[in-house]
Amino acid sequence: MLIAGSKAVFGRSPLGLSLVVGGEEVLTAGSISTDPNTFEWVTWDVEKYMGKTAVVKANASAPMSYGGRTIPRGFIALGRIEQGSKRLSTYLDEYSVTVNADKKYILIPAANNGSNSRLSVFCGENNILGIAQSAKPATDRVDYYIPVNVEKYKGQNLRVVLTGVKTTDLVYGAIRTSDSIENEYNETYRPIVHFSPEFGWTNDPNGMVRTPSGEWHLSLQHNPYGTSHGNMHWGLSVSKDLIHWKDYPDVVAPDELGSIFSGSAVVDHDNTAGFGKDAIIAIYTSAGRGQRQSIAYSTDGGYNFTKYPGNPVLADPEQRDFRDPKVGWIKGQWVMALAVGQVIRFYGSPDLKNWTFLSDFGTGLGSHAGVWECPDLMSFDYKGQTKWVLFVSINPGGPNGGSITQYFIGDFDGKRFKADPLPYPLWVDEGVDNYAGVTFDNTPGRKVFMGWMSNWVYTGQTPTKGFHNSMTLPRDLSLKHNGKHLVLASVPSPEVYAARGLKKDINPVISTDSKVISPILEGNKGAYEIDATITPDAKGEFYLTLSNTKGEKAVIIFDLRNGHLKFDRSKSGIVDFSDSFAAKAVDVALNTRPEYKIQLFVDKLSTELFINEGDMVFTNCVFPTEVYNTFEISSSDCKLNVKDIAVYELK
Ligand code: FRU
Repeated sequence: MLIAGSKAVFGRSPLGLSLVVGGEEVLTAGSISTDPNTFEWVTWDVEKYMGKTAVVKANASAPMSYGGRTIPRGFIALGRIEQGSKRLSTYLDEYSVTVNADKKYILIPAANNGSNSRLSVFCGENNILGIAQSAKPATDRVDYYIPVNVEKYKGQNLRVVLTGVKTTDLVYGAIRTSDSIENEYNETYRPIVHFSPEFGWTNDPNGMVRTPSGEWHLSLQHNPYGTSHGNMHWGLSVSKDLIHWKDYPDVVAPDELGSIFSGSAVVDHDNTAGFGKDAIIAIYTSAGRGQRQSIAYSTDGGYNFTKYPGNPVLADPEQRDFRDPKVGWIKGQWVMALAVGQVIRFYGSPDLKNWTFLSDFGTGLGSHAGVWECPDLMSFDYKGQTKWVLFVSINPGGPNGGSITQYFIGDFDGKRFKADPLPYPLWVDEGVDNYAGVTFDNTPGRKVFMGWMSNWVYTGQTPTKGFHNSMTLPRDLSLKHNGKHLVLASVPSPEVYAARGLKKDINPVISTDSKVISPILEGNKGAYEIDATITPDAKGEFYLTLSNTKGEKAVIIFDLRNGHLKFDRSKSGIVDFSDSFAAKAVDVALNTRPEYKIQLFVDKLSTELFINEGDMVFTNCVFPTEVYNTFEISSSDCKLNVKDIAVYELK
């Protein structure tokens, strides 16, 4: 059939043609051209139906009405139908190749502009990926290889099936095996001392737990088959020092209940769930038709998980946004904080399997400018008193656009969270690139936090290749008084300092208007920490500027006169991937102080500024085309006394 037409489908019904045999739709086809006015051949293999009567049916829906406007759903044009013994199209409904699993991976060439396809890998009748996964096989360029780990199937013949591939596409005839994933690990923006997935997409940190053997486990929201959000799995990465991470095969894969959305993991010291003493139990959202909570357990220290056959363990068909369970052992029971629409709902359980409603929190409090997501409830000892803090991520609605995490301080009596009257919203991090962060389970006496270092507004467009996104540095949390009220204080976890390499001491300057450090480091690889204590002599403006020889610069502006802190990344490097990335400087309120002790951590694509040991933290990403190797502290209108200046390489 020669078909033209638009591809996009707005609404539920498909736009295209179908072949009906015996009253049943057996084959379908839509436009495959990128230009809606270009006709292309689509071939149906109808051998199976020879001799039968078939009807070709056009499926189109009436224009729909949306927000007072009439929106056409697209069009489909049929040029010609022919029957013959030769395939006239280059388009294959299913491209199927048999590959012998003689090496560790099957590699599938793919690209960000690849075709929208579904990938399955069969061992006999069994799809070893669980269900078909979305993938973008390469058409005219290769950005990365999708690595399918087939170690478990060594020597067996596997059948790789991709839908919607053309015989002229680059992927055609190019699927092969390899012992390595072959994507360039050290691509331009690959962080050195931050977690980033070896391959694929990540967003929220999930299932963060310190295991009984002392390892740090991170189960990232992971797409193992592509570099954009989709196919959500729980990945696994393990660290001994909280800084350097090693990826392992994904631990929880999508199933008939849906994708695996965010959640947490706990160490079940007392075997309350019956999976074994010290079992590590993952509590996550199954996101399919509706969102429900499920559990999976590991009895090998967090490397392999088995889904509980009684899943889901918590459902509420009334709720559309019902996700991101964060569980902790609190006052004699498991307490789950769950994002439910515009509130955080608490549930209690003796065994992680049976949950009872405790209370709702949040109506009329804090920011409701976006969907509520990824809560975390934690307690701190503040001067002998126990105070509770509740995190709630919101997206969109951040004061500087997109996603951001707010927190509340108050009390939790085992059932109900009551917020102290404070000037909400309060933000965990004032920057624009720290979202969905929560704390690790099983860290007595400490609260260790990591967040996703990106923003939903532009995360899909940022210029990395074989991986997408990274996490913040680990931060130790506490409560502190800011002169007016209690606030959450984030400081770099002590483990961060173990990553310091070479130290470069720098002479202090007294009463000057500028201090330039250039180069920041000899042979600068892009990961370093710069410390300084800056005392301005008046309420003027001073700047911290990172720059490179290409004239790219990221500028942090302390506007003391008006009490603002800004991050201007308009000339910081690659910025044109999204209109929302650098059009306006990130602009937040600054508590003015006589002195600013700054710690600035830079790692390829990230900047994290800690001010006055927990007064404020400001995380913002940048994409310079060359490492910034000049740092300047300067002012246009006040004298600066700059002391305790040091630069450390981070490795
Ligand atoms: C937050 C979030 C969660 C959800 C996950 C899906 O970034 O939207 O609410 O579980 O991402 O990947």
